[in-house]
Amino acid sequence: MRRAIYPGSFDPVTFGHLDIIRRSACMFDEIIVGVLSNSAKNSLFSVSERVSMISELTRDLDNVKVGSFDGLLIDYAKKMDANVIVRGLRAVTDFEYELQIAQTNRVESPELDTVFLTTSLEYSYLSSTIVREFASYGGDISRFVPQEIIPQIMAKYNK
Ligand code: PNS
Repeated sequence: MRRAIYPGSFDPVTFGHLDIIRRSACMFDEIIVGVLSNSAKNSLFSVSERVSMISELTRDLDNVKVGSFDGLLIDYAKKMDANVIVRGLRAVTDFEYELQIAQTNRVESPELDTVFLTTSLEYSYLSSTIVREFASYGGDISRFVPQEIIPQIMAKYNK
């Protein structure tokens, strides 16, 4: 059983994340989308809101499960019996940080490998930060996130 974890903040999930989820679901037997529950971060959505949005948007993918974790990713991977971490790489600016994290995780947990998928070109500019910024000014976010979650995002900004 090749089980992989795709971790992230997903605040909110974007077309870029969903693209990585769909593509990695074809590569592994099971993908666990792990939503980071980080109380230190001031997030727009609660963990349960983020989990339910991603679950809803991936319900057609039988081998995708959605959960949440706090603490170290390597501990969550161990708990879920996953041996691969999936991360998306948008641009070279992501690379240094991602490499550092992947190497730290591998030093601490040598049986755990990180696999990077290059983000599809049409989403290479996209991030949850951009979505939040645009939405906060009442901008059109329909190119960034699925229609189903737009009302939830706009409601956070009373738009
Ligand atoms: O979507 P993000 O915010 O870029 O995701 C970052 C994430 C969740 C992958 C990373 O912050 C993480 O794994 N956090 C858990 C704590 C941890 O294990 N850190 C890495 C070792 S320093």
